[in-house]
Amino acid sequence: TGYITIDQGFKNTGSCQSSITFLDGEKGILRYRGYSIEDLAEKASFIEVSYAVIFGELPTKTQLEKFEDDIRKHTLVNEEMKDIIDGFPKNAHPMGILSSLTSALTAFNPKPVDVDSQEAIYNAVCKTIAKFSVLSTWVHRKREGFPMNYYDNSKGYVENFLTMMFAIPTEEYKVNPVVVDALDKLLILHADHEQNCSTSTVRVVGSSHAGLFASISAGVSALWGPLHGGANQAVIEMLEAIKADGGDVEKFIAKAKDKDDPFRLMGFGHRVYKNFDPRAKIIKKAADDVLAALGVNDPVLDIAKTLEKAALEDEYFKARNLYPNVDFYSGIIYRALGIPTEMFTVMFAVGRLPGWIAQWIEMRLNSEPIGRPRQVYTGENLRAFKEISNR
Ligand code: CMC
Repeated sequence: TGYITIDQGFKNTGSCQSSITFLDGEKGILRYRGYSIEDLAEKASFIEVSYAVIFGELPTKTQLEKFEDDIRKHTLVNEEMKDIIDGFPKNAHPMGILSSLTSALTAFNPKPVDVDSQEAIYNAVCKTIAKFSVLSTWVHRKREGFPMNYYDNSKGYVENFLTMMFAIPTEEYKVNPVVVDALDKLLILHADHEQNCSTSTVRVVGSSHAGLFASISAGVSALWGPLHGGANQAVIEMLEAIKADGGDVEKFIAKAKDKDDPFRLMGFGHRVYKNFDPRAKIIKKAADDVLAALGVNDPVLDIAKTLEKAALEDEYFKARNLYPNVDFYSGIIYRALGIPTEMFTVMFAVGRLPGWIAQWIEMRLNSEPIGRPRQVYTGENLRAFKEISNR
């Protein structure tokens, strides 16, 4: 005992063995359960990918249909959840509401998941995917002042998600297939990313045998920060600030390089990718395609491209291997789909959910010990206690 190595930010520490996601940061490779992210984004649906991430194999047609059906069966959320949503101020940040609502689900589902039963795990998976997607859309409805609505069993997951988010009672809501495809792809690209900050959080919280909803609620909070999932919101805010400032990208690059300035180029850099982020490559192309298909002309996309080019040619960014990450272009697509900026990180959470679930289950099935790092104490030695009258 006694000798402790400090590894701040766990830059060189592996916390577990995992068979879910393979990531090679030098080569820019990302695979879920052995399947390349490029193939999955092109050929699969989000629910198909969720199944593979969680259960290890791509589903057969029958398995997929059953999985979609079983998710549908859990889409009714306890009516009292609506009172909880009502209690939030309208301008509360969606991630704060989502994390609270996920935690509140424990009140209506107090029984822990029996990890020794495959059936119990399967039911918990379906329930979590169903409730989380409904609550995520309700967070948006709350902020818009729309009445809460219900899942339509005749529609697929992504179509339902969009309808639940945007449909208002007075108008018929038609889902645009271009939007469905784009959202499906974005969710797939976010489905898992090995031991990132929020996933590690889910595993550590779950390692105390806290429940699945409680662990995921903690994951939502971890994702919220601008250095992690919150970067997608921060990117658009940065691009808008550049636009408002006259479009001078060099000025912002200079700020990002200035070590006395806390500003960082949002959507740039990654702990593991030191060459390029394969997700960013796919998303950049998707952004072009989606904007063209929807006939949207977003001046922020031009600023993003100019900024990316300037940063990639800059010695500071080159020397540190800083490339655009998944969050750099995703916000531009979300905007084109009509999703408000403050909801972007909720969209990331909806995409990351299967990863969190898979990692939580894996951690429990591996019987991992409680996560409990050590420290090196740097405080005072033993001191004599002073009575309050003498302090
Ligand atoms: N702008 C300017 N400088 C940067 C940036 C940036 N975006 N990212 C890293 N650096 C510099 C950093 O200052 C350091 O420089 P030096 O060696 O001179 O001290 C060097 O690059 C290494 O950075 P680090 O902070 O030690 O790297 P890290 O692995 O701890 O952090 C990161 C990774 C993603 C938190 C960081 O790159 C960052 O803050 N990026 C901006 C936020 C962002 O886009 N986050 C989304 C990440 S991808 C999706 C997700 O995880 O949710």
